[in-house]
Amino acid sequence: MAAQAKKRVLSGITATGRLHIGNYIGAISQWVDNQAVYENLLFVADLHALTIPQAVAGQDLRARVEEIFALYLACGIDPEQSTLFVQSDIVEHAELGWIMTCTTPVSWLERMTQFKTKGKIADVDTGVGAGLLCYPALQAADILLYDPDLVPVGEDQKQHVEITRDIAKRFNTLFGDTFKIPDVVIRQAGGRIMGLDDPTAKMSKSTAERAPGHAIGLLDPLDKARKSIMRAVTDSNSGVDFATELAPGVTNLLTIFECFTGTSRDQSAARFDGAGYGKLKSDVADAVIGRLTEIQQRYREITDDRDQLNKLLTQGAERARSIAGPKLAQAYRATGLRS
Ligand code: TYM
Repeated sequence: MAAQAKKRVLSGITATGRLHIGNYIGAISQWVDNQAVYENLLFVADLHALTIPQAVAGQDLRARVEEIFALYLACGIDPEQSTLFVQSDIVEHAELGWIMTCTTPVSWLERMTQFKTKGKIADVDTGVGAGLLCYPALQAADILLYDPDLVPVGEDQKQHVEITRDIAKRFNTLFGDTFKIPDVVIRQAGGRIMGLDDPTAKMSKSTAERAPGHAIGLLDPLDKARKSIMRAVTDSNSGVDFATELAPGVTNLLTIFECFTGTSRDQSAARFDGAGYGKLKSDVADAVIGRLTEIQQRYREITDDRDQLNKLLTQGAERARSIAGPKLAQAYRATGLRS
């Protein structure tokens, strides 16, 4: 019997800020867990970072991009099993991005939740760039260039994968069958990790820059990480009571614990029911810090070997280009730009 081809996975992270445990749980850990089963294509979305100019102004964006690339490796992505690359190293993203911008109705883009929320924040200072509106069309290009079967992301990116499906269908209807329609994959628990300081708001890279205690960065000093967890907002009760509705901050801590330890909710109920919040937080801190210690150790080794890092950047870009190039050519032919 012929061996079945592996399903192809495509996903990425925008280089606007330092990665946190929400990114790790919602995205990276899914990629690591499935890398032997799927063909992974994982990238650092640096062009997307420019959609919030004030988030990158004055920063060495390339250094930030390489930090994320090295963190993928440090978190356990194997560069021989997975293709790792940087978006702007593959010019096909910007080229197909333009075609997708022209294929996408403005009304679809205006409905995007991220445009509405980030647009409001950005507006206060400098006004919103058109890139923030058009961002989902570039994201559609990121995905469709590689014909993936699956796009594993956190819950906040679901809408962007759904619009990608709609854009692909529209393109296929207008210009003929060209793109595969991918499915979104979201973790059952852990698809939306909340802020430690405010469990009603999603843990986010941009809030983390303004609010210490909001997130745990993957490269944070370990004592800072422990302090942030010990100070996490819960409620005015003294401990965990599974007979009552748990406060969002408590549920968030339980989810973090479960994702870092592979524990089910029933197992954590047996462990924590009746326990004080101090015990819950200190067990969460131990679990998180244990993993961060490994990640940071690997990160130091990886970044110490500059030649190897450069080699992996080049190798990943070559592999990605070999898929993206022919696909872009196919899209050019479909639109009539090439015969
Ligand atoms: P970004 O950089 O905001 O987030 C990267 C990944 O982390 C997930 N995530 C979370 N998961 C759980 N809890 C959280 N608090 C949390 N915060 C973030 C996100 O859902 C995402 O999976 N536009 C994308 C990057 C991108 C992309 C793509 C993704 C560009 N092109 C193509 C997939 C496919 C973004 O800004 O993600």
